[in-house]
Amino acid sequence: MAEELIINTSADKREKYESLLPQIEGLISYEDDLIANLSNIAAALKFGMNFFWVGFYIVKNDELVLGPFQGPIACTRIRMGKGVCGTAWENNETVLVPNVDEFPGHIACSSDSKSEIVLCASKDGEVKLILDVDSDQLNDFDEVDKEYLERLMKLIEGKI
Ligand code: SME
Repeated sequence: MAEELIINTSADKREKYESLLPQIEGLISYEDDLIANLSNIAAALKFGMNFFWVGFYIVKNDELVLGPFQGPIACTRIRMGKGVCGTAWENNETVLVPNVDEFPGHIACSSDSKSEIVLCASKDGEVKLILDVDSDQLNDFDEVDKEYLERLMKLIEGKI
């Protein structure tokens, strides 16, 4: 396993994802423990993409429960349909929120969060976990994030 990520801080967002995704794929390829893999992915995204908050919520019974993450402390449980995460889970689709104040029912774990993207990983058509990325800047996520983070979720689905 690589001991360090190779990160080009001056690259643009697409180039960073292009460099990071194969490194993440390598990182999780020899490990089957889901929590270990999600932990390394959260760290790789935090340091590779310089995200404000990045982490996973795992479906447990009828709730999302906080999993491995990097960033400030966060809400531990989210019900289906609640907030951005619960909405993504309910609809099994990516939700991109340019301004969290304009998303009805947004759950403010940190008052510094301004925009957010949430993606799902499923098995047999059922959502098993979600990835939440928060920014302290408005309008910080776009179709490039959606494209590459959805690719990442496919990698994760292969390890569920
Ligand atoms: N804002 C999210 C809650 C999770 S925290 O941002 C880490 C939501 O509305 O679902």
